[in-house]
Amino acid sequence: MPGFKMPLEGKKVGCLGAGAMGGALLEGLVRSGLVPPAHLAASDVREDRLRFLSSKLGIRTCTENVSLVAESDVVILAVKPPQVPAVLEEVAPHVRVERHLLVSIAAGVTTATVERRISGPVRVVRVMPNTPCLVGSGASAYCLGRHATPADGEIVAAIFGAVGRVVAVEETLMDAVTGLSGSGPAYMFLLLDAFIEAGVRVGLPREVARVLAAQTMLGSARMLLESGEHPAVLRDMVTTPGGTTAAGLFALEHGRLRAVIMEAVAAAVRRAGELLSDGEFCQPAGTDNRAAFRRQNSPSNDREFCQRADTDDTVAFRGQNSRSKER
Ligand SMILES: NC(=O)c1ccc[n+]([C@@H]2O[C@H](COP(=O)([O-])OP(=O)(O)OC[C@H]3O[C@@H](n4cnc5c(N)ncnc54)[C@H](OP(=O)(O)O)[C@@H]3O)[C@@H](O)[C@H]2O)c1
Repeated sequence: MPGFKMPLEGKKVGCLGAGAMGGALLEGLVRSGLVPPAHLAASDVREDRLRFLSSKLGIRTCTENVSLVAESDVVILAVKPPQVPAVLEEVAPHVRVERHLLVSIAAGVTTATVERRISGPVRVVRVMPNTPCLVGSGASAYCLGRHATPADGEIVAAIFGAVGRVVAVEETLMDAVTGLSGSGPAYMFLLLDAFIEAGVRVGLPREVARVLAAQTMLGSARMLLESGEHPAVLRDMVTTPGGTTAAGLFALEHGRLRAVIMEAVAAAVRRAGELLSDGEFCQPAGTDNRAAFRRQNSPSNDREFCQRADTDDTVAFRGQNSRSKER
């Protein structure tokens, strides 16, 4: 179309932190062809990770965050939340407000927090992605900071659209997003686990039950998104009066499944709010029972940079004070 410009055209995109999420975004951008590899870069403290990404994707890599910022128009902040203060302090003097767009995916770090660490009216967009971004089927929500423009929103929508679906929300809804889609993959895996066990219980080989359960969830979700129909309409298509599905649905209603799910999401949203307001008790990912508490070098009272109840899979942070208070 004459005159139509892709939001990312000519932009150099750098990922500061190239772990699971940063790597997924870079891969999505390369695969979709939205940004040529020559316009993509990553910085990380892990040289092995950088070597892997550079040989797999053909992008530029470096261990100096400052060089990455100097080379990029769009900087995606993709380190863990406890590492954000140190990283912002390091790169702040090199951020040019007229040039750079900062995109933070750090869970629980508000746009105002990032803005305060940079002098001048920097454009910041905050995004809450989820783990299915790793397979190109993520669900991400973003909100604009004080100085970000609708055009910045389009840039972010294009980047996260390369690894799934994207919606825009007000920042006040970010905790709700965390409770629904951020933590959501864990709920879906719990349900899938239950369906697989249910299949095994009624005699199906485990692998058969696994494929049937997962493909049924995938296919049902696609039908919902692609048809635009209300879920009740799609449910009715499977439910013959007096039939097998009606019997199964009754058992689920009897067990209060819908109420339990609503309670679960509300509990996660409440927890997200608590973690944001209680910075001394920074907690690990609510959805990860492998996470070990780990003290970081960040200031123990930096209330703005707590780990949030999202889908993070490794690091947790607890300030020194919180340790002693808990005992
Ligand atoms: N994973 C998810 O599902 C998910 C969902 C929503 C939001 N998020 C957010 O996405 C962000 C990244 O998560 P992730 O799962 O991708 O984490 P990750 O796999 O740990 O990636 C972070 C990378 O940054 C590196 N790093 C640490 N300090 C650094 C520094 N000073 N400079 C440059 N690189 C540094 C880490 O190296 P080391 O491993 O050596 O520390 C690691 O390679 C987090 O803020 C998280 O809240 C993640």
